[in-house]
Amino acid sequence: MSPAPIPQTHTGLDSPAGVWWTPAHRAEKLWVGIAFAWCLVLFAMMPLWHLKGGQNPSGIRRRTDATAYYKRTQEFIKQYQVGTDRGMPVVEPPPGSDVYLAGMTFQWTPILRLRQGAEYTLHISSLDVNHGFSLFPVNVNFQVVPGYDYGLRVTPTAAGDFRIICNEFCGIGHHTMVGRVIVLDSAGREIARSEEAR
Ligand code: CUA
Repeated sequence: MSPAPIPQTHTGLDSPAGVWWTPAHRAEKLWVGIAFAWCLVLFAMMPLWHLKGGQNPSGIRRRTDATAYYKRTQEFIKQYQVGTDRGMPVVEPPPGSDVYLAGMTFQWTPILRLRQGAEYTLHISSLDVNHGFSLFPVNVNFQVVPGYDYGLRVTPTAAGDFRIICNEFCGIGHHTMVGRVIVLDSAGREIARSEEAR
């Protein structure tokens, strides 16, 4: 009976088995070249996308703090309030104006009434933690970070009754954080929900 073979273990003292030290084949060099060129393309895409992709907030972005932003939002509400809906102020700013929307756990204030086809500067900020602004059912998404006042130039293109859904987990009431934007048609009419469904 022969003894059991000693298992081969590799140490750094021996050269590893294989052909890795032989010169690379032409095809390998070509593929490495292609991969490298593609890396450069992707690298160039980052600044290019920032400038041309429309992914980043292209409007105003400045530092603020919760107290100042809350105060500004309250001033905005006082100036243009037209009613309330279940205790939440409904605000109808004139076309072209600066609109202030504040996100906080767990609500968006105020309710906005905007005009279809009119341009606004929509300021968004959070008073506490990160929130996500998404407009349902439209495909609009925006990260709302505390400490920053984002001024987005927006022009509502469709009339209707929209919901702002928070899409960034912000706490126990995250799923209840629903706001409202009413877009009046160009004649200033509020579209009834039944009409909108058509
Ligand atoms: Cu705010 Cu989730």
